[in-house]
Amino acid sequence: MKKVNLKDKVAIITGSSQGIGKAIAIALAKKGVKVVLNGRNVDKLTQAKLELFAQGYEVLAVQADVGKYEECENLIEQTIDRFGQLDMLINNAGIAMEGSIADTQPEVFEQVFHTNIMGVLFPTKAALPHLKKSKGSVVFTGSIAGYMGLPNYSAYSASKMSLTALVQSLKIELAGTGVHVGINYVGFAENDKDKTYYDANGNIKLMPVRKQFKRMPLTKVANYFVRGIEHRTYKQTLSGIGKFTRIMHQYFPAIFEWAMIKKHVNLN
Ligand SMILES: NC(=O)c1ccc[n+]([C@@H]2O[C@H](COP(=O)([O-])OP(=O)(O)OC[C@H]3O[C@@H](n4cnc5c(N)ncnc54)[C@H](OP(=O)(O)O)[C@@H]3O)[C@@H](O)[C@H]2O)c1
Repeated sequence: MKKVNLKDKVAIITGSSQGIGKAIAIALAKKGVKVVLNGRNVDKLTQAKLELFAQGYEVLAVQADVGKYEECENLIEQTIDRFGQLDMLINNAGIAMEGSIADTQPEVFEQVFHTNIMGVLFPTKAALPHLKKSKGSVVFTGSIAGYMGLPNYSAYSASKMSLTALVQSLKIELAGTGVHVGINYVGFAENDKDKTYYDANGNIKLMPVRKQFKRMPLTKVANYFVRGIEHRTYKQTLSGIGKFTRIMHQYFPAIFEWAMIKKHVNLN
């Protein structure tokens, strides 16, 4: 397929006040895309907007909780009011948790499922009429936790696995509309210094640096997303550890499970 020229297109990237989302926004802006940043915390969002603005990029920031449908509708409306069109929705906002099923408080499961599942369904549903009009792209930020249920990451793994089902359904539903559906299974990425996760009791904690794993730089993660949109790729698995996990789980699940038990893998 011919490479799509992204210049002057309009993209919403959910959860883009920091981390992978912000890196995707910058990578798209470098291609001439008008970007819409999103997050809940206004201060963080404003800071990210000013950063992109200072680099000369065309940027709008909309505060919205992707777990609330009316706020997603508002995110789309503000985008259309400002730019008149929507060509890309990158469903990136997500939260992490850590804790065994036995130890984790029920509210943590609810919060993770709500943000990571409703938080992609809601913006997608609200954006679809505009994406159909532009024959644009809807792209999801998956994880290698979407290949296998990882220990102490149960709700997170389940939420990321469910993305595979959502994109499969959506791809079939959108067949013939010209809308591109894509999912990128991200391996371990460099964390934003402000990245947080829920502990088993529902406390929000700063994510420690995962020195035991090779982490992909955010710019590299973002470039995969951009390339995926330009080439209208359906699925991409990022990083060596991501590909290793996919193959091990697909062909040697018992060995993989054994290694996890043996090593008592701690992902944080
Ligand atoms: N980092 C990794 O190694 C890795 C690996 C695989 C997959 N991923 C996935 O990549 C995505 C981004 O991860 P990250 O590491 O960049 O995380 P991050 O640094 O914690 O950033 C998350 C972003 O999402 C926003 N957000 C969270 N909940 C939201 C909500 N309900 N509504 C709107 N915005 C919300 C946050 O801003 P506010 O808090 O202000 O709302 C922030 O901008 C997630 O889906 C994650 O699961 C990450």
